[in-house]
Amino acid sequence: MSKIVVAVDGPSASGKSTVARAVAQALDYRYVDSGALYRTVTWYALQQDRATNDAGRLAEWVHRLSFSLSTTDPGVVRVQIDDRLPDLADLRGDAVVEAVSDVAAVPEVRRVVGDVLRDMTRLGPLVVEGRDIGTVVFPKTPLKFFVDADPEERARRRSIETGGDVARVKASLQRRDQKDSSRHSAPLRCAADAIRVDTTGMTVEQVVDRILGCVATKLTNGL
Ligand code: DC
Repeated sequence: MSKIVVAVDGPSASGKSTVARAVAQALDYRYVDSGALYRTVTWYALQQDRATNDAGRLAEWVHRLSFSLSTTDPGVVRVQIDDRLPDLADLRGDAVVEAVSDVAAVPEVRRVVGDVLRDMTRLGPLVVEGRDIGTVVFPKTPLKFFVDADPEERARRRSIETGGDVARVKASLQRRDQKDSSRHSAPLRCAADAIRVDTTGMTVEQVVDRILGCVATKLTNGL
């Protein structure tokens, strides 16, 4: 396989970002956070006062955007839209968090984002985290992982990260899980050929070692 992609899918706050970053660093591959790309599109829609629940208009609007890859940090691929790059704090803000599932449910938005992600393979081997990387964006990659953890654990981890109250964070995660899993276009699900890793009670190092071990075995066996 000429283009190596390690797909790391899973629900919000499953630990997949931390793990995917560490796997990319260990392999010296570039790290791509596809959720950040959906958040960037959402942030830009809000900046332009677009109604984020108007699927028809978003579908038409998203085709007019100009996406370019930012290489400020060589290990992490970030995306600018119309030469604008949001702060990471903007992407984590409440307005984006509440609107992103609606925006990510629009099939045209997913098509455009999928094309942007596939175009990144020209940069070299990638670790791409998301919800549909192994099922839709790179269905042919043999390096697929589905990272999960129980809902309590996920809410606890996210509230440590963002400082919010655990019950509130859990409710917000569940709302997004529900939307992400039940949407018509590319719902969150584990690919049939993905290796599922339940990270509840596991340390980051254990999860990373497990994934690196599987990747090494597959690469040694010629995928
Ligand atoms: O991983 P995250 O929480 O940053 O993702 C933000 C949103 O984007 C989340 O609601 C799901 C959506 N998403 C998606 O639909 N497909 C992806 N590949 C990545 C994220």
